[in-house]
Amino acid sequence: MAAKILAFAGSARRDSLNKKLVRVAARAAREAGGEVTLIDLDDFPMPIYHGDLEDAEGLPPNALKLRELFLAHDALLIVSPENNGSVPAVLKNTIDWLSRGTGDGHGTNSGIAPYRGKVAGLAGATPGPWGTLYQCLPHLRIILTKLTVTVIPQQVPLPHADEAFDEQGELRDPKVAKSVAAFAKSLVETTLKLKA
Ligand code: FNR
Repeated sequence: MAAKILAFAGSARRDSLNKKLVRVAARAAREAGGEVTLIDLDDFPMPIYHGDLEDAEGLPPNALKLRELFLAHDALLIVSPENNGSVPAVLKNTIDWLSRGTGDGHGTNSGIAPYRGKVAGLAGATPGPWGTLYQCLPHLRIILTKLTVTVIPQQVPLPHADEAFDEQGELRDPKVAKSVAAFAKSLVETTLKLKA
C-alpha cells in the first residue's frame, strides 16, 4: 500500500518560488515512499467561481479534471505563497470550485467528495521575513479543515525564499532541506496510518 499524494503550488507563475519548493518537497515525499503526482495549477486554468455559471454549466472542464485527480489521491501537498495576508486567489478559487458538486445545484454535500478523508501537508514560500507562517498557512489550514481534510501539524514556512534556492533549484541551507524531508516523511506516514 502506498500513500498517493497530489502535489502542487498555489502559484501559477512560471518562475514561482513555491513551484521550486513543491518540487523539492515532492521529491522528499517520494524518497519517504510516497507515490507523488506533481501538477501545475497553470495547466488547469478556470474562471473565477460564479454561482450563475455553475448553475448554467456545472463545473468548468479543468475543475472536473482536477476533481478526478483529487479523487485518485489520498493526500494533498500544497505549497503556497501569501497574498495580502492570506491564500492567493488562484488557490482559493481552485479549492472553491472543487468544493462544489457536478452541477446538481447548491447546498448538496456531494461537492466535498474530493476532500473527504484526505490528508494534507502545507508549506509556503515568500521573499519576506515570515514565509507564510502567520497568515497564509493558518488560513489554508482552516479552509481545508472546514472541508474535512486532516491537515498534519508539521509544516514548512520558507522566509527569504528569493535567496533560498541555487541555480539547480535546490535548497541552499541543509537545515531547511532536512526540515522539508521530515515534513514530507510525516505526510507520507500520516497518510498511510489514516488509510490503513
Ligand atoms: C504578495 N506578496 C506577499 N508576501 C508576503 O509575505 N505576504 C503578503 O501578504 C504578500 N502579499 C502579496 C500580494 C500580492 C498581490 C502579490 C502579487 C504578492 C509577495 C509574494 O509572497 C511573492 O511575490 C511570492 O514570490 C509569490 O510566490 P511565487 O509566485 O514566487 O510562488
